Amino acid sequence: MQRQRSIYIMEKALLLYIFLFYWHFLNALFTVEAPQTLYTVEHGNNVTMECTFPVNGKLKFRDLSVSWEKKDELKKQVYVLLKGEEDFQSQHSDFRGRIKLLKENLNLGQSLLQITDVKLRDAGFYRCLIGYGGADYKTINLKVKAPYRTITQRVVSIGDNKWKLTCQSEGYPQAEVIWQNSEYEDLTDKANTSYKTGSDQLYRVTSTLTIKSRTDEIFYCIFWNKELQENTSAILRIEDSSDSVLWTESRRFVGAILIVTALFGSVLLFMLYIKKGIKFFYFSVSSLLRSICSVNSSSQRWNEIIKVF
Ligand SMILES: *[C@@H]1O[C@H](CO)[C@@H](O)[C@H](O)[C@H]1NC(C)=O
Ligand SMILES: *[C@@H]1O[C@H](CO)[C@@H](O)[C@H](O)[C@H]1NC(C)=O
Ligand SMILES: *[C@@H]1O[C@H](CO)[C@@H](O)[C@H](O)[C@H]1NC(C)=O
Repeated sequence: MQRQRSIYIMEKALLLYIFLFYWHFLNALFTVEAPQTLYTVEHGNNVTMECTFPVNGKLKFRDLSVSWEKKDELKKQVYVLLKGEEDFQSQHSDFRGRIKLLKENLNLGQSLLQITDVKLRDAGFYRCLIGYGGADYKTINLKVKAPYRTITQRVVSIGDNKWKLTCQSEGYPQAEVIWQNSEYEDLTDKANTSYKTGSDQLYRVTSTLTIKSRTDEIFYCIFWNKELQENTSAILRIEDSSDSVLWTESRRFVGAILIVTALFGSVLLFMLYIKKGIKFFYFSVSSLLRSICSVNSSSQRWNEIIKVF
């Protein structure tokens, strides 16, 4: 029993000794870690990328340097904190106004870089460097996607039971547009798809299918984003009114104006009639009274009342 106990104590002492011996050595082996090395974010959203570093006890801000840079053909400075002081002078214009380092997290040994309103051109590799006693860095990959979320569509009759169906959407990367009828038969080879790049590298994809069809038929256009393995689709209906939609709406508008005018007019007329009617009524009554009573004073008063109207 006694022997076992003393061995136990000896083991503990040995562990403590080893720990103390390597303490300085461990401290010198300063390592930065990246808990997540790939971030995928949607265009327009925010992203916060993280690196961690060892902090023993209270953080000495004055000894800390933090830097984030983007590895493009030319290195772009994203964020710099040098010996506790932020430096925005060297920040690349691509990132101006969209970068924030969450400083309260530095105490916990976290270098959190927030990019707001993420652009497609933000995609790429980022390096987070930290100097705090020792120095180290890790590399993080940022992927930016832009799904083809909303599809605008148009159905136009071009006569002879022929229709022009158009679907349009914006996204990234380039999507294929697949056309199908209600039986899910592929009609893509009858369609014409064009790609335009706008601001911020987004693709504006417009696809037009020209087809002979009876009314009450439906068609599908599918935006297939191969790289993201995402499909977005719209349903297009061939309807009798497809090409007279504008006409019905404008007619309805004219109708509304007519109704309002008529209402307003009749109210005016009504008021006029009431006024005239009351005038006429008093006039008749006063004439009657005059003829019956032939009292001058009262006729005077009636005349006054009539004047009021
Ligand atoms: C991104 O962050 C900014 C500032 O913190 C905030 O105003 C905005 O609502 C955020 N946007 C999204 C999409 O979360
Ligand atoms: C597609 O559009 C181009 C240019 O507008 C045109 O020359 C071509 O004939 C069209 N193809 C089809 C299948 O409609
Ligand atoms: C998207 O649609 C295309 C065509 O219908 C199909 O081949 C593909 O497997 C679909 N992909 C996904 C992820 O649904």
